[in-house]
Amino acid sequence: MKTHTPIVAGNWKLNPVTPTAALKLYKDVLKGVTKPSDKVDIVMAPPTVFLSTVARIHRSKKVALAAQTVFSEVSGAHTGTVSPQMVKQLGATYTIVGHSEERARGVSDEAVAASTVAALKQGLTPIVCIGERVRDENGDYYSFIEAQLRVLFTAVPAGKIKQVVLAYEPIWAIGTGDTATAEDVHEMKLFIQKILTSVCGRAAASKVRILYGGSVKAANAEELFTQGEVDGFLVGGASLKPKEFINIITTVYRHV
Ligand code: PGA
Repeated sequence: MKTHTPIVAGNWKLNPVTPTAALKLYKDVLKGVTKPSDKVDIVMAPPTVFLSTVARIHRSKKVALAAQTVFSEVSGAHTGTVSPQMVKQLGATYTIVGHSEERARGVSDEAVAASTVAALKQGLTPIVCIGERVRDENGDYYSFIEAQLRVLFTAVPAGKIKQVVLAYEPIWAIGTGDTATAEDVHEMKLFIQKILTSVCGRAAASKVRILYGGSVKAANAEELFTQGEVDGFLVGGASLKPKEFINIITTVYRHV
């Protein structure tokens, strides 16, 4: 029995390529979501320009909308960015922050923390991505994750910690078909909780939902969810295939 409401979030990345296709994808997923929404939080993160397209018909309480990133400032000379206020006005209630594909373009741990704080201030639920590039034999990836977590949770105000959602996404597993094992995922979840407890205390740490992302599909979702003991998934490629995404959601429903 899970203590948290699980989340299944679809990260569409730079897909699909037209607003018409984005609307169709949104509607196709919605059609397949038949169960009540209080058991599993279902989230879709279209590209920001299509967020506005989808938001125009977004009346559903069954799914929530997310931005794929937000900047930390409200306005000013910040070319190419969007603020939490802007995406909130478009209907987003979540935002992904610090995805590894964004971090690879030079966004630092400190900038990710600042965006997270800005999102929380606007009442958006941030799904903050963390994850190592490679797994070395010495276990150095643990210190890498620890550093990401410490920068993040030092910046988040104590009262807002429980609203943060973490997505553990090992970079080597993203889009590669090479998933972490359920055992690896469980071990990392325990490690994340240990670090969170030392930074924020047990009570707040125990409220933070920890998702897994990296080549999640219908075929591996059950094992990752039950044995990995995560609080849900951040899904990339498979979220672009409505049937596949719905099967992942259904798998999670079966275990709550
Ligand atoms: P993937 O992507 O499911 O295609 O591996 C996950 C992500 O990048 O969030």
